[in-house]
Amino acid sequence: MEDDFSRILLERGEIERRVRALAREIADCYDGAHTRLTLAPILSGSLIFVSDLIRELPLKMKLSLVHISTYPGQTTQPGSPRVIVGPTGDIANRDVLIIDDILDTGRTLSRVQAMIRAQGPASVRTAVLLRKPGKARGVEADFVGFDIDDEFVVGYGLDYGDLYRNYPHIALLRPELIR
Ligand code: IMP
Ligand code: MG
Repeated sequence: MEDDFSRILLERGEIERRVRALAREIADCYDGAHTRLTLAPILSGSLIFVSDLIRELPLKMKLSLVHISTYPGQTTQPGSPRVIVGPTGDIANRDVLIIDDILDTGRTLSRVQAMIRAQGPASVRTAVLLRKPGKARGVEADFVGFDIDDEFVVGYGLDYGDLYRNYPHIALLRPELIR
């Protein structure tokens, strides 16, 4: 697997430190006793991020799963986001924090934000680990881990053709492997 990457963009340790800091920002925001927090991770890309993040959050929370497919098959060209599952559970009157791996064009997040808002939550916020600046129109994330250049990255949950999600760092794929 290691041979497939041209460069490591973010090392595991750096990601770990940023996720911990992000958890503190999020914990400060949802501190009130009245908070009824539900995290809504968008699968599969946010799997690793959310599992690290929630263990750093000293808050009572529920989970509502949303499974969306944006890149059907092996491609880096975003297709139309397809809802596979969710949001699971009852999110009415809950403070929902949507979690995604990356904010790219924003099509996935605007779709999910609309789906969640339609179910009458008390509030909706969004946290993403990565953001590619300047591409998303009309979609905002309240919490952002890292701003990165517009390059295709894998690892720490992010995939290419459903591969590389388990790679602990975030890396660039060798260009000849991308079609
Ligand atoms: P958007 O709908 O264009 O914002 O794309 C967001 C979704 O596309 C994310 O949830 C990712 O699954 C996927 N995605 C976007 N950019 C990348 C990338 O650089 N590597 C891997 N997946 C990506
Ligand atoms: Mg994804």
